[in-house]
Amino acid sequence: MEILLRPQAAEASYRAARVIARLVREKPACVLGLATGRTPVLLYRELARLHREENLDFSRVTTFNLDEYVGLPASHPQSYRWFMEEEFFRYINIDRKNTNLPDGCASDLRQECRDYEKRISAAGGIDLQVLGLGSNGHIGFNEPTGSLGSRTWVKILSQQTMKDNSELFENSADVPRHCITMGIGTIMEARHCLVMAFGPKKSHAVAAMIEGPITSMCPASVLQFHPRTTIVLDEPAAAGLSNLEHYRWIEQNKLDWQKY
Ligand code: F6R
Repeated sequence: MEILLRPQAAEASYRAARVIARLVREKPACVLGLATGRTPVLLYRELARLHREENLDFSRVTTFNLDEYVGLPASHPQSYRWFMEEEFFRYINIDRKNTNLPDGCASDLRQECRDYEKRISAAGGIDLQVLGLGSNGHIGFNEPTGSLGSRTWVKILSQQTMKDNSELFENSADVPRHCITMGIGTIMEARHCLVMAFGPKKSHAVAAMIEGPITSMCPASVLQFHPRTTIVLDEPAAAGLSNLEHYRWIEQNKLDWQKY
């Protein structure tokens, strides 16, 4: 795992944006896996700035989001399709036909999950997957004790995740209980995983992901098996790590081509 530590979320997000910008410049028709939630907001803002001011071109990029709530149409302000439009897509030159999210209102949800996997494969797989981290160690909405080999499927959100996400809803009773999410097996097939975690509420999950045992109790810990994972942290999120000096040392001694 490559661990990049920055004092604050803003600097960490700029670094993550550089990782993505490099890929988009090197492979203009790349496939990006995207996340929603509070964590990637500054990342999307920085990518929009790079588009505006430095001509970062998204016209040939394809995207697949990790997840979507069941029962919320694209027109619902809490749907993830709405989030992506508001926070990112409207600021860049992406072709909406190339943006994919699971349809949480599909009449046959199980078929929708199977089709989503097929669409990812047909696009050639995901080059880089952006991941936020749940305070319970989830990635996508793959909650603790779920299968570490799962594929895109309908999942039930844990009570902890519903509580965390209720901040984003006016009324906590409105938080959906079901979602469609890429599975852990789907995420593990991405060629590069970029995890972002900010703030003290994530420090426990960050330590479990990087330094704990690989266990479904912390689904993100499976990334220890992934051949290429970059983890971008701010200091509060990194506070529970035991080997901070080692991670700093590694970053300071990178060869030029290893840096972003
Ligand atoms: C969102 C997603 C989730 C979030 C995670 C962190 O698409 O898949 O795994 O990344 O719940 O959420 P925030 O960023 O709101 O703390």
